[in-house]
Amino acid sequence: MTARLDATPKVTGRAKYAVDHNLPGMAYGYVVLSTIASGRIEAMDVTAAKGAPGVLAVFTPFDVLNLSTASSPMMGETWVPLRSTDVAYRGQPIGIVVAETFEQARDAAALVEVSYQETPARTSFEDGLATAEDAPGGVQGNEAAISVLASGIESIEDALAASPVVVEGTYRTAAQNHAAMEPHSAVAAWENGELTVYSGNQGANLQATELAGALNVPESAVHAVNPYVGGAFGGKGRTSVPAFLAAAAARELGRPVKCSFTREQVFTGTANRPETLQKVALGADENGTLLAVRHDSWSSTPMDRSFVEPTSHGTSREWYATQNMAISQKAVPLNIPLTTFMRAPGEAPGSFALESAMDELAIALGMDPIELRRRNSSIAPPGNDLQWSSKHLDECYSIGAQRFGWAERTPNGRVDGDWLVGMGTATAMFPALLFPATVGITLNADETAVVSTSGADPGTGLLTMLSAIGAESLDLPPERITPQLGDSRYPPGGMSGGSTATASTGTAIVVAAAEAIDALVALAAAPGSPFEGQEVTYADGRVHGSSGTLSFGELLRALRRESLSVKGSAGPGEERTKHSFGSFGAQFCEVRVHRLTGEARVSRMLGVFDAGRIISDKLARSQLSGGMIWGVSAALHEGLELEPDGRLANADLASYLVPVNADIPEIDVEFVSYPDTFYSPVGARGVGEVGIVGVAAAIANAICNATGIRVRHIPITIEDLL
Ligand code: MOS
Repeated sequence: MTARLDATPKVTGRAKYAVDHNLPGMAYGYVVLSTIASGRIEAMDVTAAKGAPGVLAVFTPFDVLNLSTASSPMMGETWVPLRSTDVAYRGQPIGIVVAETFEQARDAAALVEVSYQETPARTSFEDGLATAEDAPGGVQGNEAAISVLASGIESIEDALAASPVVVEGTYRTAAQNHAAMEPHSAVAAWENGELTVYSGNQGANLQATELAGALNVPESAVHAVNPYVGGAFGGKGRTSVPAFLAAAAARELGRPVKCSFTREQVFTGTANRPETLQKVALGADENGTLLAVRHDSWSSTPMDRSFVEPTSHGTSREWYATQNMAISQKAVPLNIPLTTFMRAPGEAPGSFALESAMDELAIALGMDPIELRRRNSSIAPPGNDLQWSSKHLDECYSIGAQRFGWAERTPNGRVDGDWLVGMGTATAMFPALLFPATVGITLNADETAVVSTSGADPGTGLLTMLSAIGAESLDLPPERITPQLGDSRYPPGGMSGGSTATASTGTAIVVAAAEAIDALVALAAAPGSPFEGQEVTYADGRVHGSSGTLSFGELLRALRRESLSVKGSAGPGEERTKHSFGSFGAQFCEVRVHRLTGEARVSRMLGVFDAGRIISDKLARSQLSGGMIWGVSAALHEGLELEPDGRLANADLASYLVPVNADIPEIDVEFVSYPDTFYSPVGARGVGEVGIVGVAAAIANAICNATGIRVRHIPITIEDLL
């Protein structure tokens, strides 16, 4: 199994994304955004907009849509637009104009006059550091501060003071936008009190729950459909503003409504990755054994304080063995767009700080950076008794070092004409979580089997996984499996987030397949059946009795049944009380910095990953190399620029830089493949997020190796290297 099942429909344009749905009588919505960063809307004059050609309605906080609060089963409360006149950031959705055509809605939106009572905006992260707050309510179930100290050690400061070698640094990472190819959008239509909504999401059933709450209708009245999602990465974990507005406006107007953010609106109308400042101090003995790790983080948060980037928590839950560790996590509330999870939330920016600091420690010790990491490899998360279920990071490093030619690295890089060439490395880690998921399996009389779940495939390959794991679990060739997803009427799948879908959904498939086989065998041996009273077994898509054998289709046909359907559910189980779970990797890169222009080019990259069993080499490679490219982007390109007035200076894809093909060298991805059956019967851990982790540090470390310049912030630009 190598091919992606959705590849052909996607590249031929047959895949229908949300806004590809066109319904009879459909109207178009255009979202109006605030033009101040802080204050209150006093009035909105919509007279001109309402009188503009083709306009059907204008909804604002004064002319309200029937929308209540919404809550995501996985992510908690979701911000719902137009429920208040408060403005907390510039570019906040404050209205929707609905018209006969998109152009009419857009033109009329420009005619909406808003009067504000403006209050001073807080937009300086720098100033906010002084009044930072403890991360509200902790971070993702963890305390805002965690400290683990060896007995007899009073404080982390004492542990650092007692360390023969100490490095300390302050690192900064930029805010980012998910910039998914498919902008957040929706087509919504009501019929007989029931809503059908097409809108990219990370789980159709989760979206249906949120919309039902916001629209005050029973969950059964919401049908969410999103078989194709053009990128999500955490940014579509919650229902989007266009989906709430299209659904409510369609109900109000009695017509289907299509609504999409423009590319520019995506930057403020959806949630971003926060900016961070991180202070790391590492203390070690002369042999490189870590004696103390301190990691304090400050994360920008929106004014509602709804999300803090858990950078320090990565250090405490995955990284190095150490006797003494203290982490803290602080929030800096600003008048900025909402923030949320974005690919490897926590670990992606957190690893930039920690893994840069490890490189600095290696230099201070005069030790090879890989050797330093080996010496501090953990068998359990720091301060935790539960050992990793399966961890082969050292092997990743030895394979990687060999393959990358690490032995040729010198402490001061090398020179190639006008280019200064350096090599860098960093560790990648990401926790292996599990979410509840349910899968339905139907065996059909025509010898095919349907594997269905409401979960989403935001480009990650879940559709192909349903087929592959379904085939394996039912002992059938994949061609006979029909995978189905992205529809809230299917059994409730998990969230396609947190690198969990293959394991969560895959486990549910294994459970459902066992149910299906049990039911089939029972059916075959039941009174009146071909194998009545016989001992019946199942293999190869067939039931076998002492009197003969039948394919499951033949059996169903003999019993005049069209099909047999079962469901299977899975979720975090008892094993989670016995082990810790994570995916691991060793990142390598070579960077060339031009000695005159300061231009930095990544010239070679290798990632060697330990993510349990690799079910599909091709799909896993795509996920991991995609993550590594994102790491290059974070290191050298991406960053939201906030103006003092709260405007994002680069809210479009012309000025918000992401790498293009010319920026990316050939990427080498390698695996060590040790099935992790403690984690799930499928044996595969996540590959979605671990690929991005460590890359930015590996690049900064390579730049330092090449130039001697240690840059402690990302993105690293030419100015940093002149
Ligand atoms: Mo995940 S933050 O849903 O890529």
